[in-house]
Amino acid sequence: MSFHIAVLAGDGIGPEIVHATVEVMRATAGRFGIDLRFQEALIGGAAYDATGHPLPAETLALCRQSDAVLLGAVGGPKWDQVQPPSLRPEAGALLPLRKELGLFANLRPARLFPTLSSASSLRLDLIEGGLDILVVRELTGGIYFGQPKGRSPDGQSAVDTCVYTRAEIERIARVGFEAARQRNRRLCSVDKANVLETSRLWREVVTEVAQSYPDVELSHMLVDNCAMQLVRNPRQFDVILTENMFGDILSDEAAMLTGSLGMLPSASLGTARSTNERTTFGLYEPVHGSAPDIAGQGIANPIATILSAALLFRYSLGQAQAAEAIETAVARVLEAGYRTADIAAPGEPAIGTQDMTRAVLERLL
Ligand code: IPM
Ligand code: MG
Repeated sequence: MSFHIAVLAGDGIGPEIVHATVEVMRATAGRFGIDLRFQEALIGGAAYDATGHPLPAETLALCRQSDAVLLGAVGGPKWDQVQPPSLRPEAGALLPLRKELGLFANLRPARLFPTLSSASSLRLDLIEGGLDILVVRELTGGIYFGQPKGRSPDGQSAVDTCVYTRAEIERIARVGFEAARQRNRRLCSVDKANVLETSRLWREVVTEVAQSYPDVELSHMLVDNCAMQLVRNPRQFDVILTENMFGDILSDEAAMLTGSLGMLPSASLGTARSTNERTTFGLYEPVHGSAPDIAGQGIANPIATILSAALLFRYSLGQAQAAEAIETAVARVLEAGYRTADIAAPGEPAIGTQDMTRAVLERLL
């Protein structure tokens, strides 16, 4: 059986880190006897320049035919002024890609690598013993997509609409509870139920879904309090379940606490292919952006993308051993002291993208 992987390198450092990751994926596939077929397509500013649209129809079609998508990053100053704004890489490629592919569940693990704990923005005593939070963010609903949306004809007002249906909340809640089951069995659902009607529905539905997961401890927290608790005592969290925009904000905050923003992977998943199959179609990308300031210099850190590939093996290909092999190789590379410039301590020597990739490859085999 062969798996088809759509490769969307995108902009900025995207091509460098994605091609490094494809090398790691090929080596991993070889070691575990997995047949991978890669096919590349354009996305983001690169696609806009070549075709006039940041998400060409062929790219979407390729993704639909694939088992999983590996994405680098999109956007950069070159395309910030593109008109209309709906053709900018972020709004014109990322959001419709998520929506069209039905990728409603965004998993953003924020894990502290012990060897990098001095890079955290928190005091060491707050993160001692490690930090391992999983943000489960709803990705295709809420204020990002609700209608009406837009500017009034006279330009004097604007509207965005936050909408959630029971069904949307229920399916993301299940993903959150299932994830908690694989971890420390604590789920904190974050909302703004003291103000928002959608949040009151959110809380109601999450509480109902919890009935099916008596082994998971559910708590509810208001989003402003959660933002505060994350910097006050982050170790209280295991899984954070939240809606689209709160998840956007809290996942950046959680990621920064680990000091490893440039190291964190993410997975965006749809529904399982069939009820008896555990794999789901998914899109995998680093949490960091396209870093146009360092693009093309060969110094970008490929680790977040390589770890995203590990998630791809786990969730979309059902190859947990291959995923672990990659994660272990990365951990060993860090323990051995290899650092790209973004994670090197002042005065510490740094290596480039290729050398970092080679170091991972050496530990895979
Ligand atoms: C993210 C990004 C995107 C989002 C932007 C680029 C549209 O911030 O993936 O977190 O808001 O979802
Ligand atoms: Mg974001």
